[in-house]
Amino acid sequence: MILVTGGAGFIGSNFVLDWLAGGGEPVVNVDKLTYAGNLANLASLAGDARHRFVQADIGDQAAMEAILAEHRPRALVHFAAESHVDRSIHGPGEFVQTNIVGTFRLLEAARGHWQALPDAEKETFRFLHVSTDEVYGSLSDTDPAFSETTPYAPNSPYSASKAASDHLVRAYHHTYGLPTITTNCSNNYGPYQFPEKLVPLMIANALEGRPLPVYGDGRQVRDWLYVGDHCEAIRMVLAKGRTGEVYNIGGNAEMRNLEVVHALCDTLQALRPREGGYRGLVTYVADRPGHDRRYAIDARKVRAGLGWTPRETFESGIGRTVRWYLDNAAWVAQVRSGEYRHWIDKNYGKRT
Ligand code: NAD
Ligand code: TYD
Repeated sequence: MILVTGGAGFIGSNFVLDWLAGGGEPVVNVDKLTYAGNLANLASLAGDARHRFVQADIGDQAAMEAILAEHRPRALVHFAAESHVDRSIHGPGEFVQTNIVGTFRLLEAARGHWQALPDAEKETFRFLHVSTDEVYGSLSDTDPAFSETTPYAPNSPYSASKAASDHLVRAYHHTYGLPTITTNCSNNYGPYQFPEKLVPLMIANALEGRPLPVYGDGRQVRDWLYVGDHCEAIRMVLAKGRTGEVYNIGGNAEMRNLEVVHALCDTLQALRPREGGYRGLVTYVADRPGHDRRYAIDARKVRAGLGWTPRETFESGIGRTVRWYLDNAAWVAQVRSGEYRHWIDKNYGKRT
């Protein structure tokens, strides 16, 4: 079997669902169930003996050791993290705790487990660390895209904590020989994304006729990738990637934020017409402090080396995503209750 951390979150749950749908081995799914973790994402696996959920904190080394000893996974795919830049600005402590200390504890548990394996299993074991392009910092409009050798220059508490975790993973390979691989991916969108991130937030607000809060001038650039394509890349890296290596993953779909919001408005208008359209809901609000201007990924290594290529274009992926949110209004309503309301007040209440 394989062990997945953070498998009740956005990308992790998509990964688990795709993995099992594709006939992959059983999964033990370890998640703390923070505000971002949601077992409803995995509802379609109810009664499926190939999926075993364990609620635990990756920072609890004894718990991680016990899970590894019990299940003896052949690979560990590490998604668990605090993942939202705006939350890291309001409260960086949890980011240091989970992304840095938590990853360290998980690495310690994995190292002990791996070192005790028989040689044949030791050889094939993998620790795949899922990270972000944000560790490379911010690009100007004319800079070349991030490659695997771009120096790290993280700018937010989120990206700094992910950068630190990447360094620890690298060090565990270099020092102890732990068979690690790191992936650094661009912005994902798709089903089950918590509606605090740009794409689902805009869809949810638009459907309620609420303002669409664009930070600053809305001209920041992100490289957008459909989550299913990211999951496929991870599967290929796990199967064919070389240990000790880093793979950048991106959709080759650079878009300004305002273009993304307009694309969402136009897709919604086609599927659920609103009098006057949705674009008029766009509202410029105070910028995010330290807002990175542009991210772009050079994915030649994973494309040429492993034969991965995204299946979705931005247009097709956004279409699928908007349809999913329209078809899953109950999921959206459930995750937008409680803690979500506090977050919206905290992040948007004082923005002018
Ligand atoms: P998410 O916030 O939707 O999910 C994170 C999951 O981790 C949640 O289920 C949460 O409960 C769990 N978790 C948090 N702290 C934990 C802890 N201490 N112990 C166990 N579980 C814990 O995040 P996501 O968007 O699915 O991102 C997953 C990973 O991919 C993260 O490592 C993130 O840095 C990385 N990543 C995300 C993107 C993106 O666009 N979303 C892009 C590139 C890389
Ligand atoms: P986000 O989804 O938070 O991802 P990240 O910051 O990790 O790239 O935001 C994507 C972009 O959208 C980012 O440039 C910030 C911007 N943004 C807004 O303009 N308004 C919003 O309400 C949010 C959540 C994000």
